Amino acid sequence: MSVDVRDSLTPPEQLPRHVAIIMDGNGRWAQQRSLPRTMGHREGAKAVRRIVQACSERGVTVLTLFAFSTENWRRPPWEVEVLMKLFLATLRNEIRRLDEANVRLRFIGDRSAFSGILQDYTAKAERRTAANTGLILVIAANYGGRWDMAQAGRKLAEEVAAGRLQPGSITADLFHHYTCLSDLPEPDLLIRTGGEQRISNFLLWQMAYTELYFTDRLWPDYDADDLESACAAFASRQRRFGQTADQIARSAHA
Ligand code: FPP
Repeated sequence: MSVDVRDSLTPPEQLPRHVAIIMDGNGRWAQQRSLPRTMGHREGAKAVRRIVQACSERGVTVLTLFAFSTENWRRPPWEVEVLMKLFLATLRNEIRRLDEANVRLRFIGDRSAFSGILQDYTAKAERRTAANTGLILVIAANYGGRWDMAQAGRKLAEEVAAGRLQPGSITADLFHHYTCLSDLPEPDLLIRTGGEQRISNFLLWQMAYTELYFTDRLWPDYDADDLESACAAFASRQRRFGQTADQIARSAHA
């Protein structure tokens, strides 16, 4: 008797709407094979393509990838340069495919530190895919959760200084409005590959109620089956958002 693989997939209504990923382990993947670290990043870019396709096909609404953190500038200059080149080359190679797959691209982070060509290209990619209605692919580049909160605080301070806002009217909801991704659902599931169990200054504000999932799999090996395992784990968890288990059970039967 053959088993239809679709029978074992997480039902669409139980899938996370927003998946965020810390793609870790590129360097170790390469080292295990006595290859330069840069080869790990190149293979990592292939995993990005696989997971974007899988999320797109499964009907995930938002996928946010941590491509380059505000702390990644501390890496050796040659590695930073390779990452920037790979970033630009991947964008150039993939943009047509992404557009055809109805993916909407968006970048978060301080792009002013990037080369002019990368800044132009990211803006162009956003414009080109702006009307697409499928997966929203957010690339966090020169992004940090603390940077995000600081830029939100700065904008609020400017409003106060200009007399348009009273300090007393600053609430969590208003602050949220000034953070990146405030127009999108908050991440339901954070996946971190590579065995470490930390957030590393990713979406600090947005992940207050995100389910965390850590796997030893190194990012270049990560595939659609691994994503499915993470989604199945997510579907098996009870999210309570501060309520009791009883309250959740009662509202489910109401
Ligand atoms: C972490 O692995 C990975 C990065 C800092 C870069 C992620 C970049 C890519 C996957 C390539 C392209 C991405 C896009 C979105 C086009 P690590 O180097 O810290 O690995 P290690 O912990 O094993 O050293």
